[in-house]
Amino acid sequence: MTKIMSVFLVMKLDAWFYHRAFCFIHWTLAFLVSFLYATGYYRLMFTTQSEPLNWYLLVWHMNAGALVVAITPLIFFIKLNAPVLTGKVPNLFIGLTTKIVHLGLYAMLLAIPCAAYMGLGFDFPLVGVINVPGLIRFTWIHRWVSEHLNMPLITFMEPFAKFHRDTGADVILPALLGLHIGAAFYHHFVLQDEILLRLLPSLRRRPPENLSGKR
Ligand code: HEM
Ligand code: HEM
Repeated sequence: MTKIMSVFLVMKLDAWFYHRAFCFIHWTLAFLVSFLYATGYYRLMFTTQSEPLNWYLLVWHMNAGALVVAITPLIFFIKLNAPVLTGKVPNLFIGLTTKIVHLGLYAMLLAIPCAAYMGLGFDFPLVGVINVPGLIRFTWIHRWVSEHLNMPLITFMEPFAKFHRDTGADVILPALLGLHIGAAFYHHFVLQDEILLRLLPSLRRRPPENLSGKR
């Protein structure tokens, strides 16, 4: 217990750089999201259902999506326990927009893959070994949807599939990422406050000598 407490204490004190775990998970997330878009669109545009590559890309896609669900709560938890000195917020609007974009990113990184699962009409092999049954496998869900919502399961699943494929992945997440990455470049090139550099994995983790103007 004290060991766990001391880890958080160290995280709190390491306020100039983002925590190593945060950096690692952040860039893993960025890689996974790029991979998800690459596999999703490559499969759609350059393969047909009859090709084995179409299925393999989908399996990689679904597993990468599952990994996003697993690590998103981790990065949220680490950020919560290891706040970083990011400088003064210029005004209320910027502060509020930053919060909304960050919360939106967390929400979408969980909602898009969860909606994908809710709309999935088949089982998928998690890590190639565990067969995760799709909703259609559960007779009690069929019964519940038909009794309480008065519709076949497939009609219930459709909006989830549509949200994952169209609204979530094609509109909301790219918009949030555009604002997020744009803000990071604005910090780096215009404000020159080194926020981006602090997020890079670095072996020499020593804050600059004079921090007064930069904090
Ligand atoms: C492409 C997928 C990406 C995803 C899913 C992603 C997600 C996130 C998340 C969830 C956070 C934590 C937000 C918080 O609670 O403070 C974050 C922070 C951050 N990201 Fe990204 N990010 C991505 C790409 C990038 C890229 C390409 C850059 C730089 C060009 C970048 C720069 C930053 C910076 C500077 C922070 C720290 C923000 C702060 O502490 O206020 N991110 N990112
Ligand atoms: C953050 C996580 C995810 C993102 C950003 C994402 C994004 C995408 C994108 C961009 C496409 C292509 C869109 C299109 O066909 O118009 C796609 C297709 C697809 N994704 Fe995801 N996805 C994620 C997670 C998942 C997960 C966890 C699963 C499965 C459980 C999944 C299953 C599928 C399926 C089955 C398709 C093909 C849909 C179709 O052809 O109708 N995705 N995804």
